[in-house]
This record gives sequence, structure tokens and C-alpha cells, in this order.
Amino acid sequence: MARRPQPARSLAVQVLRQLEQREGFSNRHLDEALDGPRGQALERRDRALATSLVYGVLRHRGRLDALIDAVARNPSRLRGRIREVLRVATFELRELDRPPHVAISEAQAATRALDRTGRLGRATQALLSELVRRGAELDRVHEDGPPLEALERRWSIPPWLARRWLESLGPARALARARALSVPCSVDLRVDLSRTTRADVLAALEAARCEAPESCALADGRVVPQPQLLRVRAGGRLARHPLHARGLFSIQALGSQQAVRALDPRPGERALDVCAGMGTKTLQLAEHMRRRGALVATELSEARLAAHEAMCSRGQLDEAVRAGALTLTRRVADMADETAVPEVDDGPGYDRVLLDAPCTGLGNLARHPEARWTARPGDVEECAALQRRLLARCWSRVRPGGRLVYAVCSLEPEEGAAVVEAFAGARDDVTVLEQQRWTPEEHACDGFYLAALARAPA
Ligand SMILES: C[S@@+](CC[C@H](N)C(=O)[O-])C[C@H]1O[C@@H](n2cnc3c(N)ncnc32)[C@H](O)[C@@H]1O
Repeated sequence: MARRPQPARSLAVQVLRQLEQREGFSNRHLDEALDGPRGQALERRDRALATSLVYGVLRHRGRLDALIDAVARNPSRLRGRIREVLRVATFELRELDRPPHVAISEAQAATRALDRTGRLGRATQALLSELVRRGAELDRVHEDGPPLEALERRWSIPPWLARRWLESLGPARALARARALSVPCSVDLRVDLSRTTRADVLAALEAARCEAPESCALADGRVVPQPQLLRVRAGGRLARHPLHARGLFSIQALGSQQAVRALDPRPGERALDVCAGMGTKTLQLAEHMRRRGALVATELSEARLAAHEAMCSRGQLDEAVRAGALTLTRRVADMADETAVPEVDDGPGYDRVLLDAPCTGLGNLARHPEARWTARPGDVEECAALQRRLLARCWSRVRPGGRLVYAVCSLEPEEGAAVVEAFAGARDDVTVLEQQRWTPEEHACDGFYLAALARAPA
């Protein structure tokens, strides 16, 4: 009787198929599958394997397809589930340090289940054996090809985005960015410096053998010297650490940590977090404000605002609210809308406004690799139009003499400097204090753009 494919691989194929058929973040589909009956039956080791296969295939999909197509007799017939099985096996052969026969026999078992004649199983075996022999050479050929082809076939950047990067960055930088985005992203922690120190958190993590610290090295060998930042080697247990449960550290990417730092809110101030999402930055705002002052968080999605509440409880903001030191208001609202929002717009305007705007997420391709395949060329302008509206609406909420930080996790100029500079150029009460760009190729982190704007005093 034919052997059944090993469950971690078939779960990975299932998640990858779902992602091709409906949109959504890879981590959500994967978590759903791992929490379902098939996922729960997996041992810890197999859960880790399924996770690495899903992210790996998404991150390297263009490259895997180029390898498969280079050795297949009839590439266009390898579609749907068969293509996904081959991608998983090719990823294993090229990126995971395992004996090749495991990947090959697993893929054979999976394709045999789709074709009882056995022909597909034999073709799979032949194709993958050819890749064992020629995979490294083919990768080199694709890497050394013209930049557009190298971006697509070696670094898995879709052609429309590759063309865009070649135009805006030039070949050397575009290739460096694509290469930096092809490896799993770092795990960065933000320490709540209002209640603990980096050294204490580090000691607690080491004592629990939770995570090994890594230095946050830049491409040129320098280390990012930020007191709240702790970069650790990846691992799933961090979120279960007691210090995390008490909000003494949060998991937040290096670039994303910079928006609140640039906004620099002070104790006792009134701050507005416009696109507050699940609250990562609201908590950071409270930390900088030493849990004293007024915080207002608005968000379009009701579900996200529910998660926001949980985030604030984890950060123990409720205690500051009960003690009367902090007021915390949450509102579901479309902040691009022209109409005023009660509770948000009552009062004299805000000392600090954070606009962490919705964006294409094209700086985040290492963390959300599915965006390589779901983003469309028109998304950049569509997001920029919403960002321009949000910025104009938020500016009216900054009090004279106050400050606004505009931030996006995209490095596409239309979503960053173009939005800010056109806005500042059209008004005489805006000073651009600074613009920061955090790039994968320079800072080994997600791409992130921010601008800090000061409003002229009355
Ligand atoms: C980049 S995310 C924010 C992440 C969040 N600040 C954090 O730190 O976790 C952008 C958020 O903007 C929200 N959003 C999109 N359009 C909006 C609108 N018109 N008004 C308010 N929020 C909006 C999205 O639902 C999403 O949660």
C-alpha cells in the first residue's frame, strides 16, 4: 500500500493552497491550521517544520518556481496542489539541511496520492533528483543573470515590484534589499523602560533559557545602540514568558519601535493614536508617558480594537486608569472621514498625534512574505491616496505647537516622503523635523519610514 505523506508537509501544502485561494496574513492561516485538529495532532518538532515550510515557500516562491520550471518537461502542467508539493520539496532540498531522499520520498508519496497510476510519483522523483544534481548551479545562473531576472528568479521579487525597485533604487541596492528580505526576520523586543531595565529582562530570559540574545548588527558591523531594544534568536516561547504577560517587554520590530521614540510623548500630555490596531504602539506611548496623561486610541476595525483592550491590560494600563493617573479612550472610527468624532475631537487638540498609517506593507516582505504574491501594482497609489486623506484629517487634531509622527512599514517613496513633502509644501504651519528610513539592507530589519512634523505655535 502507498505510504501516506508525513503530516507536517501536508499541513504546509494545505496552508499554502489556502493562501493562494484567499487573501490574508500567512501567520493567521498557519495559526488556524496549527490550532485545528490536524495541527494539534502534530508533535512540536513537526509544528516547527510546517511553520518553516510555509514561510520558506512564500519567501522563495519565485525562485522555487524558476528551479522547477528549469528542469520540468512540461512546466505549465505542474499546477495547483502538485506545484505546491514540488515547491515544498524544492525548498527543503535547497534551504533545509536534511538528507535529500526524505524530501523526495515525501513529495512522491504526496503526488502518488493524486495519481494512482504512479506516473506522477515517478515524474516527481525524476524532477527532484535532477534538482539535487543541478539546483545549486541553477541558483547561481539565476543570481548572475540580468538584475530583473535575478530579482525574480533568485530573490523571488514579483516582476512589477522588481521593475519598480530597479527604477527607484538602482540594481545594486535593489538586489541588496531583495537579498536581505530573503532571510527570516529578526525577533526584536521592546523593553518597558518605565518599569524595568534591558539588563533585567535579558537576565530573566537567559535564566529561563528562553532566548539567546543577539546583537543588533547593522550591515557595516555597527550595533544599534538603543536602550529599549533587545534582539533575540527566534523562538516561539517568548510570548509565554511571565515578563511578557506583565507587559515588561513586548515583541515589536526595530523599525516599528522608532515611531513613538520620534514622537517623544511626555508624562501628563494628551496623545492620540489614530490607527491604533491591536495596540502595540498605544502601550509604547503609555510607557513614554509613564502612564500619566490622556491617551485616545482610534481604529477602523472593531476586532482589532478588541485585541487592543487585551494589549492594554497586558501592559497594566488599567491600574494607572484606576489610580486616576491616566485616561484611556477607545473608539471605532474611520479617521479618513471628514466628520468629527465625539470623544476624540472634544477638547483643545492633542500634544502628540501618532499616525501609523495603513500601507502596502512592502517593507515587511520578510515578516509577511505572502505580500510578495498578494500585493498589486495599483496598491501603492491606492494606499497613498488614503494616507494623504488621513494625514490631512489628523493634522487638524494637532494643537498649535504640537507634534505628529507619520509612519508606514513601506519604503515605497509614494507612501512615504511624497505624502509628507507634498503635505508640508502646501501648508505654512508644518515643519518637517526629521525623516527616518529603516531598511532591510542597512539595518537588518523590516523596512519602515517615518516623519516627525511640528505644528507652528498659535
Ligand atoms: C499599520 S496598522 C497599525 C498598527 C498599530 N498602530 C500597532 O502598532 O499595532 C494600520 C491600522 O490602520 C487601520 N485603519 C485603516 N484605515 C483606517 C481608517 N480610515 N481609520 C482608522 N483606522 C484605519 C487598520 O485597521 C490597521 O489596524
